[in-house]
Amino acid sequence: MVPLKRRRSSVAVETGSDRTPSRFPQVLFLLERKMGASRRTFLSQLGRKKGFQVEEEFSDRVTHLISENNSADEVRSWLEAQVRGRGSAEVQLLDVGWYTESMRAGRPVEIQDAHKLQEETNEDEVVLFSVPSYACQRRTTLENHNTSLTDPLSLLAENAELTEEEGRAVAFRRAVAVLKVLPVAVTDVSQLRGLPCLGEHMLRVIRDVLENGASREAQSTEGSQRFKALKTLTGIFGVGAKTADRWIREGIYDLDQLRASGQTLNRAQQAGLEHYDHLNEPVTRADADAIAEIVEAAVTSELPGAHITLTGGFRRGKQSGHDVDFLITHPEEGREVGLMEKIVSWLESKGLLLYQKTTRNSYLESKDGPGRPASNMDRFERCLSIFKLEERGGGGTEEEEEEKKKEDRRWRAVRVDLVVSPISQFAFALLGWTGSKLFERELRRWAGHEKLMSLSSHALYDNSKSKYLRASSEEEIFALLGLDYIPPSERNA
Ligand code: CTP
Ligand code: MN
Ligand code: MN
Repeated sequence: MVPLKRRRSSVAVETGSDRTPSRFPQVLFLLERKMGASRRTFLSQLGRKKGFQVEEEFSDRVTHLISENNSADEVRSWLEAQVRGRGSAEVQLLDVGWYTESMRAGRPVEIQDAHKLQEETNEDEVVLFSVPSYACQRRTTLENHNTSLTDPLSLLAENAELTEEEGRAVAFRRAVAVLKVLPVAVTDVSQLRGLPCLGEHMLRVIRDVLENGASREAQSTEGSQRFKALKTLTGIFGVGAKTADRWIREGIYDLDQLRASGQTLNRAQQAGLEHYDHLNEPVTRADADAIAEIVEAAVTSELPGAHITLTGGFRRGKQSGHDVDFLITHPEEGREVGLMEKIVSWLESKGLLLYQKTTRNSYLESKDGPGRPASNMDRFERCLSIFKLEERGGGGTEEEEEEKKKEDRRWRAVRVDLVVSPISQFAFALLGWTGSKLFERELRRWAGHEKLMSLSSHALYDNSKSKYLRASSEEEIFALLGLDYIPPSERNA
């Protein structure tokens, strides 16, 4: 191993106007990886108070890179990713022990062997992928090189959701999200060393797939009568895991049994059962565009100047989804009040709605205070609906068109979510309704755990400063959260 030489030890101390005067020439940088953002911030601030130059961003000014629980190889691969092609070999790689000793001493202490990061001798120990632990710190596109692993883990996540084991479900979803960002297909579990969110259970499933071609746990779950029944019953719009579970305990496993049971269904469930096949068929991008035209017409006719934005999976670039999501606003605050009711009336008068349920806006900042960080419920004026979408000719292949004629199908039912937001909350609503669900959950977890802030689809509240932070774009919200901006197409966690 070539020893890393110290560099620039004689360079004059630069003190920019925005820096506190530094007493020492060493330029330090603390690596967040494994240390965590809050501890890193704490240690950095402590160092600066003692007159050390501690950089927020890594740059070629940095002479000493300090990390915790990382091997030299791990830090080097992180370093290579930062300075691709800029030449950075000569940075001291030190353990956090050197930093804390130096702070105790009030000056940078002499570097001993024990302060240098451990070299790993075993080739197998090398960490191949460096993945930050929060999904909102990562860029997750729709490209997935590990579907053979993520499919069974997603199925186990879905099963946990259907059986209301939320903690397990989130653990599976997080593991799936980590595997989704890997740039190559995993062929051996040793490649996963050092990755976050892959506990014993996850690794057992992964090992099973890599060694036996399939996960026995996922297969037996998929084949179980209970899972099948839960999936069928919750496939009815308006039926959640609790209701499905109650029906199963009463011996209802499928739609025929449900119809024969004489169970009382609410309005949503009746519509869900009636349009079951349509609603369980994926909504295509073409369907979404056709619905967008209709919503646009309704909005323009009722409130000229109002804007509609396609959100949800389609905004993230997905080619199909389970519904179509829209966010509606007006550039003048307050003009949007009462708009939903008018849109719904317009749609109903044209016979375009098979079902709708509208909830009023119940959010009042002065009264409600900051949104609870763990909650993804918001209180916008919203409409959960089922559209009657006329089928247009020429969309499908000849065979598909033939098939539709045979069925005498001139329309299909499509689930549509409409949300109206005042312009002052628009950026938060847009961020909150673009998803993915895991990405949203991770944003709120990041805000709460790392920044002591509460993020909701209405607002961002800084708990340490006891004040709301305003933003008029998604970019500003990411910046307020101390995160790199991730565009919608890379939020597919
Ligand atoms: N959402 C929400 N509150 C709800 C329902 C959904 O804030 N009561 C948000 C979700 O967090 C998600 C977005 O709305 O970010 C879209 O939700 P959904 O349509 O369920 O998911 P999609 O990502 O659009 O997936 P699909 O393509 O299957 O529709
Ligand atoms: Mn959606
Ligand atoms: Mn939706």
